[in-house]
This record gives sequence, C-alpha cells and structure tokens, in this order.
Amino acid sequence: MHESSPRVGFLHDGSVSEEQHAAFEWLCEGFDAERVAFDDLTTGDCDVLWWHRDAPIPDDGPLATAAPAIERFLAADGGLVLTLRGMASVDALDVETVPPDETGVHSVTEPTGVLWRSLYADHPAVGEFDRLRLPVCDRGAVPVARYETVLPSRGEVLASTVRDGQDIPHEMTAVSWDADPGTVLGIGAPLAFHERVPEDVAATRDALAAGCLRAAADEPAEPSRPKPASDLREMRTTVDDPARPGYHFTPPANWLNDPNGLIAWNGRYHVFYQYNPAGPFHNTIHWGHAVSDDLIHWTDEPVALAPSPDGPDRDGCWSGCAVDDDGTATILYTGGDGRAQLPCLATTDDPNLCRWDKHEDNPVIESPPDDLDLLETEHWQAEFRDHSVWHADDRWHQIIGTGLVDGGGAALLYTSPDLREWHYEGPLLVGDDDPGTVWECPELLHLDGKQLLHVSDYEDVGYFLGTVEDGSFDVEQRGLLDYGDFYAPQSMRDGDRHLLWGWLPEARDLSAQWDAGWSGALSLPRVLSIGPDDRLEQRPAAEVTDLRDRRIPTPTSLSLAADERERLADGDALELRMEVALADATAVELSLLASPDRAERTTLRYTRDGELVLDRTVASDDHRATADTRRMAVPPYDEPLSLRVFVDRSVVEVFANERHCLTARVYPTREDATGVSMVAEDGRAHVEDLACWAMETGVARTDEPTFACSPLPEP
Ligand code: FRU
Repeated sequence: MHESSPRVGFLHDGSVSEEQHAAFEWLCEGFDAERVAFDDLTTGDCDVLWWHRDAPIPDDGPLATAAPAIERFLAADGGLVLTLRGMASVDALDVETVPPDETGVHSVTEPTGVLWRSLYADHPAVGEFDRLRLPVCDRGAVPVARYETVLPSRGEVLASTVRDGQDIPHEMTAVSWDADPGTVLGIGAPLAFHERVPEDVAATRDALAAGCLRAAADEPAEPSRPKPASDLREMRTTVDDPARPGYHFTPPANWLNDPNGLIAWNGRYHVFYQYNPAGPFHNTIHWGHAVSDDLIHWTDEPVALAPSPDGPDRDGCWSGCAVDDDGTATILYTGGDGRAQLPCLATTDDPNLCRWDKHEDNPVIESPPDDLDLLETEHWQAEFRDHSVWHADDRWHQIIGTGLVDGGGAALLYTSPDLREWHYEGPLLVGDDDPGTVWECPELLHLDGKQLLHVSDYEDVGYFLGTVEDGSFDVEQRGLLDYGDFYAPQSMRDGDRHLLWGWLPEARDLSAQWDAGWSGALSLPRVLSIGPDDRLEQRPAAEVTDLRDRRIPTPTSLSLAADERERLADGDALELRMEVALADATAVELSLLASPDRAERTTLRYTRDGELVLDRTVASDDHRATADTRRMAVPPYDEPLSLRVFVDRSVVEVFANERHCLTARVYPTREDATGVSMVAEDGRAHVEDLACWAMETGVARTDEPTFACSPLPEP
C-alpha cells in the first residue's frame, strides 16, 4: 500500500506528443514519476502505470509487444490508468472483451467533463470533490474514448459526461476494471493538459487525474460486472434517497422501466424488468430480476439477460414475456441491433430462472411483415417490438406492437407450432388514434370469458375489452388502466388470478434522477377481473394487506362540516381506506404529504362533477419535479366513492371503486411533509369505513436469499 504519493510510470511508445509532454510535466510536479517506454517495459518500482494516449492505437503497434508485461504488472497488484484514447486499448490488454464503441477527436467548445455516478460518490478517485459534475476541459480538439451504445462486459461504469452544464448520461467515459489483483481505470473524457484552460477547470482536471492515479495505485477496484446478488443488495443500501419508496419495488440502484417476463415458477414469483446497470438512465438495457414468495417482499437476483456483443440484441434486451412451454420456461423479448428491433427467444432449465440460453437462430422473426407500412424513425427501420404470447387451439399466438404510417398504433398477430417458427396472421387490432402513434407492450389477457387487450402509446395505457374472433379483436368497451404515472404494464397468471404490475416512471428531471442514483418503481400488484356489470375491475392483490404494519387511530366514520379541515394521520408510508359521500358539499379534498404550513402538499379532490383530481402543483419545492394536475372520471353511478390510497414516499397510488386507478409520483422536499387531512368544500360530506395504516417498508430484502444465483457468465 502506498498511502501518500505513488510512483507513476508514464508509458510512451518512443515518440512523445506535445500533449503527452504537457501531461508528463504536470505529473512531475506532484508525483514521483518516470517515463517507461513500451519497447523496454521495465516497471521497476512503479505502483501505477499511466498511458495518456492521444494518437490512434494501431492494431499491430507497440501495445501488442508491451501487453504481456502490462498484464504481469497488473497480476502483481499494479495499477493502470488509461486516459484520452488509452481506454480503447482495454481489449488488446485483455482487461475487457468489449472495447469503447466511440473513439475519435472531439471538438470541445464548452466546459466538458465527467458526470460521476452518485452510487460511486465515495470512490477514491473523486474523494476531493463534494459534487458529481466535474468539467475538466473547455476548448480544443481532444481525443476521447467512451462507451455509448454498448457496455464493457467486465468493467463497471463510474461516470458519464457533463457538457455545458447538461448531463449526458449515455456518453460513458470513466470505467473501472478489477484486473485481479490490479486495478485499471479508464478515463476517456477530455482530460488534456496541453491546452490552457481556466483555473477552476484546470484545478478540477488536476484533482481528478491525481485522484485516479492514487486510486489505481492504492485502492482495490470497484467490483466488476456482472455483479453477484450480494453486490446488488449492497447497492440498495448505498443509494439512500428519501424519495425511494419503501414498499413498492425499485431497482437496487440505476434504471428500471417495464416489468417483463412475469411468471410464477416452482412456487415463486419472478419479476424481470428493463434495467440499465450503467446508471439511472435508459440505455444498454438488460433484464433485472427479483423473486418473491409472497408478492410483497422481493429479493434481488443477478441480471438475468444481457446484450450479446455480436448478437441481434447487441444494443439492448428489450421488453418481452415468459411462458411455460411444456415445462420449459421460455422468454420472447425484443433484441435491438443498430436500426433493427426483432423478436428473440431464450429458454432455461434452471429452476431459479437465473440463467437463460439464447436461441442460436435468433431473431426468431427476421423482419417485420412487408405488406404493411410500419412507422420508421430516425432510430428504427420499423417500430416493431414487445411481445405477449399465449397458447390456444393447439398453437402459440403472439402479438407484437407497432404503428402504421397511415393508421394508428397496431398489435400484429403471429402464430407458431413451437415458439420458434412464426407465421404472420395480420393485425389483431389497429387503433383509431393519430397517425404516428405506436403501441408498445401490447398484452392480451383472457379474463372471465372476455379478452382484454392493453397497449401503451407513449402517454397512456389504453385497454380494449371484447372478444377475439378469427384473428381480429371485436371491441366492446375501452378505457384507461391508469390515469397517471403508470406505463407498459404486464401481467402474470397466478392460478385463477391475473396480476398486473406497471412501471411508475419518475416525474422529476434527468439530473434529479442522476443525483438520486436510481429511477423507476413498479406499481403494487393489481388483480384484474370482470365485474358482474361486465366492466373491468382493478384492485390491489389481497397480499398487499399484509403490508399493513400498524393501524393508525382514526374514527371509522366522519361528518365533515363545511370548510373545516380534519386532520387524520401523519406518515409517508401509508394506506388509507374510506367511502366518501358528498352530501351537499361541492367537493371533498384529501390532502397527503402536506407540510404543517401546507406549503408542500399533494391533494386528491373528489368533485360533484364525478371527477377525481390529483393536484401536485405544490407537491414539491424542488423545481426539478413535475408540477401539474391529473384527472380521472369516476362516473356518478359509482357513488359513494370508495377509495384505497397508497402513499409510499414518492408514490401515490389510488384505487377508486375497485375500478379506476390514478398513480402519481411526487417529491416533497420537507421532512415534515407527512400530514394527511380532509376537508369538505361549501357544504357537508360524510366519510364511512375510514381506516389508516402505517405500512411496512424495506420490502426489498437485503439479507441473504434462500437460493443464491451466481451472475451471468460474460457474453
Ligand atoms: C416501453 C418500451 C418498450 C421497449 C422498452 C425498452 O416503455 O419503450 O416498447 O421494449 O420500453 O426499454
């Protein structure tokens, strides 16, 4: 261990560029340094080697000769720092199998640098800083190397990019590798020394470069990817954000979107989800995995599905579903590769569903149907993704989401004898929505003799209730599954029940999500059914009542006098249940997450016009949080209004009359924004069956699981 100043070997290949010269001069001011030539690589008593490479790296260059000595140095616990284009050499050095996919010379015209992940705010390389945004350069043509559409298979991303005050998460510029026992740090950001930059920028650059050299010399590497479950559980504890829900599922850290592959298997519930291991932003999508015995407590398992660098899912393993193919768990998901998105299949014989074998002939459908004019975008040849699969009449059926150039969104129907050979049957349903609309994540459910098709159209989750006949959908009713922050739901068959979870996206901006270190939650599991009046019903799964930790004393019925506020409870992890009758009031307002002075509050108003209005215009003092109102119609035939309201820090999930749902994400900043109260406006109102519970929090288990999966092997 070298506590103070490590001895640094400055690597060069014989010729030293102006930039390298400037970097070496800087190095000598603060470190015990020597030049180490590639063709005479005696590392002497160096603790860390630094390759600050600004020229391109030729395939057959001196690196090939030097690599074995560098590898020996790492094997003897040496450290290696690779800056500018240096990070592009990680595969040649056998540190990594997937090199950065973006290298070149970039023109820097505004303050640019690293956007450090909050998960790694305590990393020794940034020990000097109490901020995550570190501009290191503001001018010049600077060589860089970074990951943009792929991730290193072994390295852990430490930072992305900040440019001109803007966070650019998908430009990933700092990576750490555990070269067991050595450490490699790659900083592909414009960390350049030749160009003169303002003093504050130079100070940040110097502190970062010095921090990296010291960290690579002295500190053990960050755990590499893929991460074992124990690391994921540790991440949960590290990412400590007061807005993180306590009884809704969230990712261990980083990004979550759609729930995927939901399946009850061998007596356990498995939830997979769209997951980006590189930070709280949508990119390089993997499938995260969690299991539960009781639907409410979840244990993290290692990532279940990762993009294969040379496969049709190179750029992401997008949404899909799981089915039981005669005893073999099988998933169909969308692989992203360049401008193509196509269906891929994977199977497993692992009883814990942790390891999946991708079908060798992926994709299982080679192109979208050519008799339809599917929407093309700047990113995609054709919008063609997401899968719902069921078995009927001795065949497998699948729908895939799309949008038609001269129509709206559409769900395309395919059939197959074996889940591998698919025959296109035609559109199951084409929406009457605006041209340009895409239906994402279509799902068909067989509910009590009817069929329910739900689709997500970037804004809402619409449903159609009706019957499928001869390959097309006969719509009898339609509506929205939820009126708020709820998207791309998927369901799981559990005996006779259909359980549905949706993604609850954040309603605060990207930089707030970056700072928080996590993004996205899942709704509570909802049971869908058809009521005696042939309408859709939605209620929380019965198990959700097991989350009630303690009853908070309230009267069971209340008569609200006009305009007199009744205080009910305090808490940010609550369930409230009540029946509201307006009597002669014009509206009743339920206030949640309110500070004592009511400066911060979220309100739910039930009006005589039969509307429920969730108002979050003053829910948060943080300007990065969305401030708006959400409306949901609760038609008068539904009187009196029965409500179950779940408050879980940044989640408010409302079930009205066991039919209508409205979910909102809110971010009170004040610790005392926990008040719950009610008021009737302009007249009296009655509340019956009132109850309030403090809910159990910490439902994601951080203790040891009952079975432990080891991480996926490297792609
Ligand atoms: C919906 C969605 C899907 C896609 C996935 C990608 O939120 O856009 O259409 O498969 O997310 O993460």
